[in-house]
Amino acid sequence: MTEASILVVEDDAQQRELVADILVRQGYRVSQAEGQDQAQQLIEASPPDLVLSDWKLNDGDGMSLLQWIRQTHPMLSFVMATAYGSIAHAVEAVQAGADDYLSKPFERQALLLSIQRTLKTRSLAAENRRLSEQLSERDRLVDIVGRAPSMQRLYRRIEKIADTEATVLLTGESGTGKELVARAIHQLSSRNSGPFVAVNCAAIPEGLMEAEFLGAEKGAYTGAHAARAGKFEAARGGTLFLDEIGELPLSIQPKLLRALQEGSVTRVGGNREIATDVRIVAATNRELAEEVRGGQFREDLFYRLNVVPIQLPALRERTEDIPALVDHFRARTSRLHGIEASEFPRPVMRRMMDYAWPGNVRELGNAVERLILLSDEGEVSMDDLPAEFGSRLPIADATDLFTLPPGGVSWESLEKSALEQALEISRGNRSQAAKLLDLSYKTFLYRLQKHDLDQS
Ligand SMILES: Nc1ncnc2c1ncn2[C@@H]1O[C@H](COP(=O)(O)OP(=O)(O)OP(=O)(O)O)[C@@H](O)[C@H]1O
Ligand SMILES: [Mg+2]
Repeated sequence: MTEASILVVEDDAQQRELVADILVRQGYRVSQAEGQDQAQQLIEASPPDLVLSDWKLNDGDGMSLLQWIRQTHPMLSFVMATAYGSIAHAVEAVQAGADDYLSKPFERQALLLSIQRTLKTRSLAAENRRLSEQLSERDRLVDIVGRAPSMQRLYRRIEKIADTEATVLLTGESGTGKELVARAIHQLSSRNSGPFVAVNCAAIPEGLMEAEFLGAEKGAYTGAHAARAGKFEAARGGTLFLDEIGELPLSIQPKLLRALQEGSVTRVGGNREIATDVRIVAATNRELAEEVRGGQFREDLFYRLNVVPIQLPALRERTEDIPALVDHFRARTSRLHGIEASEFPRPVMRRMMDYAWPGNVRELGNAVERLILLSDEGEVSMDDLPAEFGSRLPIADATDLFTLPPGGVSWESLEKSALEQALEISRGNRSQAAKLLDLSYKTFLYRLQKHDLDQS
């Protein structure tokens, strides 16, 4: 504690030297200022840990110095020295944000005690803040379940861009977690104390959309009985989430573009420009680039939104995350419905990993909840599984994945590699591997033999 730096502000030179001397002897680093101006200069140049100021100064007073410090350096400790008996001053100082006060004349002991206590409280407060920030950051991302490589890339991306002002475009199939990610980006940004405002572009009738975004003055249209703020205004200081942006009608797109480009909006029926202060995150499950080619989405708006593209993986592309997600939703169901649900048996889990999940994580969450609610005392068994879980992922057509390299390819090595990969994925289960290649078991065995792979 003795290494802390202290600025002593006092217009009486003798007094100032006296106090400085006591503090230096105690091991503090001490600087001195005779008035408010000089104090501010010193603080700007290099802020100390604590300022001890007299109430009365030649130029101005301790109160205006305190107010300036609270605006410019909120974390700086401040102790006010007040004239003997003027308890009103002490109260005023503490209310304005002083950490402590000393009534003059003060004893050496009282001075040192007050400074020690103040420095200690500040450092505890800083430590608490640091700890709670750490904790909440960790808490925030734990809401998103998944450790597949595609998810880890996603987390790195989110962390990298969250605390910037960059516009983000989230794409991915329905139910992949786009809204969840949008909220995570908001939470991890320094806008997190501001609002998160979500607008579902698919849910607003075209005729009302402009007023919804930009707001409307009273009488702007029939039924506008009072002026109202639009979503841009509502999201001021926070994040505006434009969900289902692919559904935005062509007629509205130029208006949104203008708001984004100019950083201001004008309410419908009004003429005052209102500055916007929002970070935009948009989401869609459509191929926006396709829509641009097809003329349903403006190219300029697309580029404006697509500054940081983030693609969310479909659940069937990260089946290794399914067990953790099942556990996550099992716990949620227990909490919501007060049911003790046991772990899902392995065959059930395997069946769930085989299923294609066209509705992605949302469908999985609903399925887990339904299975538990319909199960016998929270014990889910194979009999509880609906028929569609038997259907497997569709077999891909090679023409979609494979292009013959310009130099050609060795057919034998290609076939061998496919066989090896199928065995690896099915962990040596040959009938399963045969299915992966859409071959009969007999044909599969024959080809294994041909490549000398049947010994393994
Ligand atoms: N990685 C995940 N971990 C935990 N829960 C998830 C995850 N992804 C999605 N969810 C949950 O699945 C549900 C659907 O997610 P969300 O609404 O974010 O999807 P979406 O991509 O916006 O879907 P849509 O395009 O249909 O609007 C939510 O309940 C969400 O909490
Ligand atoms: Mg959504």
